[in-house]
Amino acid sequence: MISLDLSNAKLDKDIASYQEKVTVAHNDLHNATGKGNDFVGWVKWPLEYDKEEFARILALKKRMEGKYDTVLVCGIGGSYLGARAAIEMVKGLYPNDGIEVIFVGNTFSNTYISQVLEHIKNKEVVLNVISKSGTTTETSISFRIFKKFMEEKYGEDAKNRIYATTDKSRGTLKSLADKMGYETFVIPDNIGGRYSVFTAVGLLPLALANVDIEALMKGSLDAYNELNTADLDKNPAYQYAVARRVLDDKGYKAEMFVTYHLQLAMIAEWWKQLFGESEGKDGKGILPTSACFSTDLHSLGQFVQDGTKVEFETVLHVDEMADDMVFPSDDENLDNMNYLAGKKLSWVNEMAYKGTLSAHSEDGNNPNIVINIKDNSAYSFGYMIYFFFIACGMTCYLLDINPFNQPGVEVYKKKMFKLLGKE
Ligand code: PA5
Repeated sequence: MISLDLSNAKLDKDIASYQEKVTVAHNDLHNATGKGNDFVGWVKWPLEYDKEEFARILALKKRMEGKYDTVLVCGIGGSYLGARAAIEMVKGLYPNDGIEVIFVGNTFSNTYISQVLEHIKNKEVVLNVISKSGTTTETSISFRIFKKFMEEKYGEDAKNRIYATTDKSRGTLKSLADKMGYETFVIPDNIGGRYSVFTAVGLLPLALANVDIEALMKGSLDAYNELNTADLDKNPAYQYAVARRVLDDKGYKAEMFVTYHLQLAMIAEWWKQLFGESEGKDGKGILPTSACFSTDLHSLGQFVQDGTKVEFETVLHVDEMADDMVFPSDDENLDNMNYLAGKKLSWVNEMAYKGTLSAHSEDGNNPNIVINIKDNSAYSFGYMIYFFFIACGMTCYLLDINPFNQPGVEVYKKKMFKLLGKE
């Protein structure tokens, strides 16, 4: 389902030499015997996910059908990026199913929050607040504001339109939700935020947004089965993990995740969190960056081609994106573009990809890894996300890093709380 092309990766080293280390790390991931082993619930989740809760999500979606046109998703980091990435990849940026999904709880921006409040004034809204800790400041601020909006708009009925996804029994959000009578969904103890998109964290907003969550989970299950082998020859996720380590050792300290469709840009944002928060610790790790080509070739292209050689590129190539069109002919041809008349836009984009790959890897001497996926369906999203999960776990274990904590994130919070006067 996913194929990996390392022919332009300039590894100069046989990745098979990592086989022994990969086998140890694979067993550690699957048997929960490695670093951070109390957070590897995601490894077998595609097999073991909570089917009763899954049915409850589908039932809620059915019950509310026709009663809303706007879904407010209130969360930050791992509590929103996966859902947003999936919605944009599968539905595009301007879907025509009459459902708008708006993400709040991910910023302190007064302008943004005020504008969203104004924008949804006359909409029919449901609100899903998502926080594992239940105390994240950005999320708590937005939730208080939008909860008030819901109560003023819907009165008693607000509680039927607000859903909380949080710890199963502990925390401020869980107590608040129980007290208010909101339906609640669970973030399992052994799954951290950035590994949680296959739990209710991702599934509830996705279902409300009309994304096929059954297909998505099937994709994750197929990936689990197909990538459950330590054999490097047969496992493209582990090949990717090893390639990263080889390039890191060669001095490439940044990785640019490249897409060729604007609706995939949030996949890059999700990927940056996954790899950045998992790997960037103990003074180690590769800086995750991203670009959407050809758009960003007109801003970053010069640097990538001729600038300091700090980064390698990982290109997400999608064989078949939905909604193609043919470039029209024009009798007058005043813009001299008739040489492309009759060609599909997908073909033009593909030529941009091929030309850029050649320019960057051959002329620019930048290592390029290409990850090929079939299409932008929910199934492919599920498969791809599991691929990155398991690749990330592997690449961190190969670096002797605990992929499942994020101690560095606390530092800014402590300083900010002091300034905010929080006790
Ligand atoms: O991956 C992570 O753990 C973080 O990105 C968290 O998901 C993020 O900080 C939000 O935390 P919470 O769900 O506790 O509000």
